Amino acid sequence: MKPVKVGICGLGTVGGGTFNVLKRNAEEIARRVGRGIEVAQIAARDTNRKCDTQGVSITNDVFELARNPEIDIVIELIGGYTVARDLVLEAIAQGKHVVTANKALIAVHGNEIFAKAREKGVIVAFEAAVAGGIPVIKALREGLSANRINWLAGIINGTGNFILTEMREKGRDFHDVLEEAQALGYAEADPTFDVEGIDAAHKLTILASIAFGIPLQFDKAYTEGITQLTTDDVNYAEALGYRIKHLGMARRTEEGIELRVHPTLIPADRLLANVNGVMNAVMVNGDAVGSTLYYGAGAGMEPTASAVVADVVDIARALSCSPESRVPHLAFQPDVLSDHPV
Ligand code: HSE
Repeated sequence: MKPVKVGICGLGTVGGGTFNVLKRNAEEIARRVGRGIEVAQIAARDTNRKCDTQGVSITNDVFELARNPEIDIVIELIGGYTVARDLVLEAIAQGKHVVTANKALIAVHGNEIFAKAREKGVIVAFEAAVAGGIPVIKALREGLSANRINWLAGIINGTGNFILTEMREKGRDFHDVLEEAQALGYAEADPTFDVEGIDAAHKLTILASIAFGIPLQFDKAYTEGITQLTTDDVNYAEALGYRIKHLGMARRTEEGIELRVHPTLIPADRLLANVNGVMNAVMVNGDAVGSTLYYGAGAGMEPTASAVVADVVDIARALSCSPESRVPHLAFQPDVLSDHPV
């Protein structure tokens, strides 16, 4: 069978990681899928010294890649809402499947993007958009699909958790740790998104849409970040037997689904209180299964690439089936069950 051809848009931290994982694990992935996956083209403004692109054709025009007839799957890793939105809509219009790690794009423009994807019968996959390498979207869509979800709560911003951990464990200054998180490639291009809770609210919006079958409604989430917290707050919490964690929470209430993102005091012996550094963890409570916990690296080059490539593998598997039997894969898109108010 012919290999599946992908195009990678963006060669930053996640783009470079995606290329490296696809290359390094090519044989193993080909065995799993039953056919190879090849990078046909890369769109990038700059090179990435952590990624040797090994002669793959590079353009600086993402739209050229979206229109490249050779390409089956466009991997959008440029971030932001504007060019990324146009790129994804163009790729869909060209009949290409899309993999994205862009939580801002999905949370804000997802309803429009999924509607277009449905019209064209293409898949838009976004596992890497939430909690880096943790397959929590797949857990909600697949593993927990028998459940009525009651609530979910988690640490879903690695940068924020890294900052709070370093402040508590080493008494470090907020801004100093933020700079380190940027250097390590954890933070967003605009780190305000991390520290003001916007990134976590994007991710919570996506999780809630899938968990509760509601439309994506980012503007309805209560959003508060960690910028008002001081080392004193962190230390007082510790002295009282608590840890301050920045949580995203969604739950059913009588009025509808409530979405909240803010710093929270958690007793120090609880699991979520002991999720440290860049790690993320999401607890999901379903009526049949009870509480479940998903834990792993929430940001970074290869953890995020792990989720991107898993989506590519899923689509490549779907492409190996007849179009009719691909239908379950279209359920990557949140199934909106009701207009349950948020
Ligand atoms: N800036 C994000 C974080 C990257 O720190 O969690 C992963 O989504």
